[in-house]
Amino acid sequence: MASLLTAGLLGLLLVLVLLLLASRFGRARQPGEPPLDKGFIPWLGHALEFGRDAAKFMTDMRKKHGDIYTVQAAGKFVTVLLDPHSYEAVLWESRSKLDFGQYARILMDRMFEVKLPDYDPNAEKVMMRMTLQNKNLPTLTKAMFFNLRTILLSDPDRASQQWKEEGLFHLSYSTMFRAGFLTLYGNEGKDYEDSRNQAKDLAFSLEIYTEFYKLDRLLMKAARSILSAAEKKEINSLRKHLWKLLSVKRLDCRANRSVWLDSYKQHLVDLGVDENMQTRAMLLQLWSTQSNAGPAVFWLLLFLLKYPSAMAAVQGEMEGIFRSRRQKIGQMHGISQEILDCTPIFDSALNEMLRLTAAPFITREVLQDMCLRLADGREYSLRKGDRLCLFPFISPQMDPEIYEEPEKFRYDRFLNSDGTEKTDFYKGGKSLKYYSMPWGAGINVCIGKFLAVNSIKQCVFLLLSYFDLELKDPKAAIPAFDKERYGFGMLQPEKDVIIRYKLKAQ
Ligand code: HEM
Repeated sequence: MASLLTAGLLGLLLVLVLLLLASRFGRARQPGEPPLDKGFIPWLGHALEFGRDAAKFMTDMRKKHGDIYTVQAAGKFVTVLLDPHSYEAVLWESRSKLDFGQYARILMDRMFEVKLPDYDPNAEKVMMRMTLQNKNLPTLTKAMFFNLRTILLSDPDRASQQWKEEGLFHLSYSTMFRAGFLTLYGNEGKDYEDSRNQAKDLAFSLEIYTEFYKLDRLLMKAARSILSAAEKKEINSLRKHLWKLLSVKRLDCRANRSVWLDSYKQHLVDLGVDENMQTRAMLLQLWSTQSNAGPAVFWLLLFLLKYPSAMAAVQGEMEGIFRSRRQKIGQMHGISQEILDCTPIFDSALNEMLRLTAAPFITREVLQDMCLRLADGREYSLRKGDRLCLFPFISPQMDPEIYEEPEKFRYDRFLNSDGTEKTDFYKGGKSLKYYSMPWGAGINVCIGKFLAVNSIKQCVFLLLSYFDLELKDPKAAIPAFDKERYGFGMLQPEKDVIIRYKLKAQ
C-alpha cells in the first residue's frame, strides 16, 4: 500500500516537473512583442482567473505590464489592449489581418450549435442594418410600444392596484424580452388590442422567456466550454425545447412578423441552410437581439430608485414633454421619434448607466504576423494565430483619469451646463474619440442600437407613468455583478433586488 502511494506521488511530481519545464521552454517573448505572461500552469495559463473575473484579472495585469500585454489562456495567446486612443487602429484594420468572424463562428457553435456554410458576417450585418434601422425603425418602435402595453398592462397579475413584490431584474428582463420577442417574431393575431390575442401573446412569450432565462444561465459556461456533464444535458434539453417553440414552420404562421425576421429567414434560405439549422439560428438571434435591453432597463431603474435626484430629473423631463404637447401616454398609439429624441436628461442617465454596466469584449483573430502601431507611436509585433482583445469597460469606461469617481452613478455626467450632450472627455490631455463603448464600435457596433434606445425609453416611460415603484429595502446596497458575464455585453446582478409596485390611480 505504502509503495503504491509513493509511486503515485512520484508520478504526480514527475508530471508537475514536466509541465513546469514545458511552460519554461514553451513560447518566449520575442523583441518587439508585448510583455508575455504565461501564468504558472502550462497550456491552461490564466484561463481560470480570466473566466472567473475578467475585469479584475485584466486590471491586475495592466498594473503589472502596462496597457498592452499578452496572456496565455487555455492554449490560446490573447493580447489585451487597454489604451482607448489606440482602439481605432484595431477597429478599422483590414479583415485579412484582423478577423472578427472566426471567433463569432466558434461562439455560435458552442452556445447554439449553429454552423452556417459560407457565413459572411459582413453580408449579414448589411441585411440586418437595413431591416432594424432607418425606414423600418418607426414600425418597430410602434410595435414595441403596443407589445410593452400588452405585457405590462393587460396582465391582471401585474396591472393591479394592490402592491405586489417582485425582483426588479425579473420584472425588467421579462418585460423587455417578451415585448422585444413579439416585436421581432410577431404576434398570435394581427390586432394588438384584441384581448384574446393579448392573452395568447402573454402566454406564449412567457413560455419562451421562462425557457430562455434558464438557457441564459448556462450560456457563459457554454461559450467557455466549461459545462459539467449535467449542465451539458440540461442545455441540450433547453435548446431542443426552444427549437420546438421557435421552429421556422411555427414562426411562418405568426402575424405582424417584422421585416427583419422575414429577411433573415430569406438570407438563410439563400445560403442553402436547411430548416433545422434555420430554427437554431432563430434561437441565436433571439439571444443577440433580446439579451441586453432587459438588463439595461434593470440597471437604469435601479439607479433611478437609488438616486432620488436622478429620478426627479428624469420624471420631471418626461412629464414636461407630455404636458407641453397636451398628450397622455395612456391615450397614445405610440410615442413619436420627435418626442423620443428630445430627452437629454434621460439620454445622459442612460449613457451613464451603460458606462457602468455594459462590458463587451471586442475581439479579433490575428490572421498574419503584423505590426500594431499605437496612438503614441509605440509599435508591437502580433503573431499569427493569437487573439487580440479590447475591453472598453476597463478603459475608457471605468478609467479614473477620464471619469472622476468612475464607480459612481451621476445622471448628468453626459450633460453640458446648457443642457446639450457632453461629448468631450480626455485622457493624457488628448480628446478621446471613444469615451464609452457600450454598443461596441466600428464593424462591431450594435445594429439594434436605435431600436434598443427607443424600446428602453418607452418601457421606462410606461413604467413610471403607470406604476408606483419603490425599493422594498431602500438602504440595501446595489448588488455586485455576476462576474462570469464580463465580455458578453450587458452585465447582470449577482442577485435580484426586490421592489414593490402597483398601478397608479389614473
Ligand atoms: C442595451 C441594449 C444593447 C446593447 C448594450 C447592445 C450591445 C451590442 C454590442 C456591444 C454588439 C456587438 C457585438 C460584437 O460584434 O461583438 C451588438 C451587436 C448586435 N446587436 Fe445589440 N445591444 C443592445 C440591444 C440590441 C437590440 C434591442 C437589438 C435588436 C433589436 C440588438 C441587435 C444587435 C445585432 C443584430 C447585433 C449584431 C450581432 C452580430 O453581429 O452577430 N441589440 N449589440
